[in-house]
Amino acid sequence: MRHFLLLLFFHISFVDNSLVPRIKRQSDVGSNAETNGNGDTVLTDASTQHFKSPDGVVGMNVSSNGNSSGIGSSNIKTSAGGNVGDTNIDNVANVMSVGDNSNSYSDIFAAVEGEKFTSNVVQQGRVAGQGATLSNVNGGSSMQNHNGEKKNGFSYGNAGGTGSIDTEANVQTQQSMSWDQLLARLMASATASGVGSSQSNVDMGTGSGDKNITISGLVSGLNSNQGIVNSLVKGNGMINGTSEEIVGTMYGVASGKGNSTLVGASSIVSNQSSSLGEIQAFGNSNAFSSGNTSVNLMSNTNILDDTGLGVVHIDGKGHGTDNYVVASNGLKFVNAENDAAFMGSGNVKGIGSDQNSNASQTVETAVDPSGVVKIIARSNGQSMSHDGKNASLTFNDNGLVGGWRNSSYSGYANGVGSANGKDSNVTGQGFVEMNGDSMNGNSSMQAFGTGSGIISADTKAVLNVEENGVQRNGTVNGIASADGNNTHVESLSVISNIDGFETVNNYQKISSSGAGASSVSASSSTIFKRKKRYSVLAKILKK
Ligand SMILES: *[C@@H]1O[C@H](CO)[C@@H](O)[C@H](O)[C@H]1NC(C)=O
Ligand SMILES: *[C@@H]1O[C@H](CO)[C@@H](O)[C@H](O)[C@H]1NC(C)=O
Ligand SMILES: *[C@@H]1O[C@H](CO)[C@@H](O)[C@H](O)[C@H]1NC(C)=O
Ligand SMILES: *[C@@H]1O[C@H](CO)[C@@H](O)[C@H](O)[C@H]1NC(C)=O
Ligand SMILES: *[C@@H]1O[C@H](CO)[C@@H](O)[C@H](O)[C@H]1NC(C)=O
Ligand SMILES: *[C@@H]1O[C@H](CO)[C@@H](O)[C@H](O)[C@H]1NC(C)=O
Ligand SMILES: *[C@@H]1O[C@H](CO)[C@@H](O)[C@H](O)[C@H]1NC(C)=O
Ligand SMILES: *[C@@H]1O[C@H](CO)[C@@H](O)[C@H](O)[C@H]1NC(C)=O
Ligand SMILES: *[C@@H]1O[C@H](CO)[C@@H](O)[C@H](O)[C@H]1NC(C)=O
Ligand SMILES: *[C@@H]1O[C@H](CO)[C@@H](O)[C@H](O)[C@H]1NC(C)=O
Ligand SMILES: *[C@@H]1O[C@H](CO)[C@@H](O)[C@H](O)[C@H]1NC(C)=O
Ligand SMILES: *[C@@H]1O[C@H](CO)[C@@H](O)[C@H](O)[C@H]1NC(C)=O
Repeated sequence: MRHFLLLLFFHISFVDNSLVPRIKRQSDVGSNAETNGNGDTVLTDASTQHFKSPDGVVGMNVSSNGNSSGIGSSNIKTSAGGNVGDTNIDNVANVMSVGDNSNSYSDIFAAVEGEKFTSNVVQQGRVAGQGATLSNVNGGSSMQNHNGEKKNGFSYGNAGGTGSIDTEANVQTQQSMSWDQLLARLMASATASGVGSSQSNVDMGTGSGDKNITISGLVSGLNSNQGIVNSLVKGNGMINGTSEEIVGTMYGVASGKGNSTLVGASSIVSNQSSSLGEIQAFGNSNAFSSGNTSVNLMSNTNILDDTGLGVVHIDGKGHGTDNYVVASNGLKFVNAENDAAFMGSGNVKGIGSDQNSNASQTVETAVDPSGVVKIIARSNGQSMSHDGKNASLTFNDNGLVGGWRNSSYSGYANGVGSANGKDSNVTGQGFVEMNGDSMNGNSSMQAFGTGSGIISADTKAVLNVEENGVQRNGTVNGIASADGNNTHVESLSVISNIDGFETVNNYQKISSSGAGASSVSASSSTIFKRKKRYSVLAKILKK
């Protein structure tokens, strides 16, 4: 490990003996630059320059630069500043990286020319390896004019992860300031891949005065049986004068035998004295199965000047005799007018004895730049048995919008089914979908049983959607049961509401080749919809 330190200090006085007394003045000019690094390879460079132009303007400029690379860790600390008379400028940049192959770089340029200030601070940390990696940058600038007024700018960033196969972290900031202009850019990404688990995170911010932006995100995943888990988080942002742009992205996959889990959360913030804009995103899924499982997460959030958008997708699957999948995700939009939440969630649980039984749950939540909300929660599953063990399935899907443009609404679909007999199977599908002003939904459950003795198939479907401020609730259920030799029982319950039209189907069937007893019972309660026709009629009558 090598250590390099470069230190420069200069001081000069320019005495201007002009013949015109008005412009006769004396300016003290001072500057300092320091760069200090640790690593296996360290390059440092610093310089200062003081000058007076032919028209009498006195100035100084200073630069400080370092690039350090190391196995295990590296760091670089630079500072550069100076003064011309009683105006002064100071800058610092500290970069540290920890991991197998690490690189830390920083570069500062600062100048004062008469009343004009310039500073440019660049920081960069990169690291790649296995296990845990981390890159951290932290810097800033401060300026003071001859009236004693001050301006400050800052940039910080952290990116890191853990994963037994591969991890990479990268963070970069650039902050260019003059007295009345700011161009600040940030970028960070972290990716990790591991056996059984991985985690990636970023956290960064930049700004000056009453305006700043921050980005943070974390994705973490597990598999209980040494499956592969990949995670990625990245963000970038820019402030350029009065315009700004902020982007946050999350991605994750966990799969393998046994249980898989993913959790992700992110936030992007535009913090200004006039308004605060924040978009949060989260996603969570757990898939439990006797066989294989997989869970996936994708998310993107974006603020561009006064508009924002968000999209989060999460899904989980199980493929084995017993499956249980839970998934939820959401977005939160916070600004001066709104504190709104958008959420989708669902779960599906199935029990059978056939390895080919399966269950999947998907949730997608999105808000587009014009404010149109789209939430879809969808369940699918099939449970089967061929050895007399009961087959059963349940699912739930929920969508919720809270406090968006003065309205809140929600909907759900759920289903329950079971069947017994030597061979039995239950298949169910459901969804709720909110898309702008419309809400659709479907719940469908079908169960079959075949065998001898007392056997039955039992299904129930529930749907609750809101339309024009009216909550519509429908429930359908039925049971088919029989006692005999070589008997088949079947039950089906379906309820759906698509584009305002409701469909209900409830069907029970029993057949038996021998003598025995059988019974069928069914019930349904729904508010059947005729509103469309009435409203057409009402319009005709009004004419
Ligand atoms: C000062 O600025 C001038 C013009 O931009 C440049 O040529 C010179 O290299 C700078 N000196 C230092 C020490 O940065
Ligand atoms: C820093 O040095 C490394 C090699 O040690 C090089 O790959 C990298 O490009 C340099 N960084 C910059 C910004 O010059
Ligand atoms: C970020 O901006 C807000 C709003 O103007 C301000 O209150 C806050 O002090 C700023 N934060 C930093 C760290 O400068
Ligand atoms: C910053 O804004 C200015 C003026 O709108 C534009 O000319 C410049 O290209 C922008 N810089 C970047 C890096 O986008
Ligand atoms: C998987 O999750 C289920 C339900 O929480 C639990 O009973 C089981 O022990 C877990 N399996 C493993 C291998 O962790
Ligand atoms: C905005 O900045 C202020 C001051 O730094 C801070 O207290 C607040 O938490 C920030 N808001 C957000 C959403 O980060
Ligand atoms: C489980 O996943 C493994 C690895 O992808 C695959 O080889 C195996 O066939 C899968 N098992 C089932 C029952 O799908
Ligand atoms: C579940 O299995 C059935 C039949 O084996 C298949 O048609 C369906 O696509 C599977 N569903 C999922 C979500 O894997
Ligand atoms: C199987 O289903 C039948 C009929 O619904 C029920 O009576 C029985 O308790 C169930 N058995 C198990 C083990 O759940
Ligand atoms: C479920 O059982 C019925 C009746 O035995 C059969 O017709 C159907 O194919 C079975 N479905 C599946 C997916 O095995
Ligand atoms: C809708 O029906 C279900 C099932 O009967 C019931 O549990 C629920 O409370 C009902 N919800 C409303 C809003 O009526
Ligand atoms: C049902 O099957 C058993 C054995 O297969 C037979 O002994 C019995 O007579 C049958 N019962 C009827 C009612 O067919």
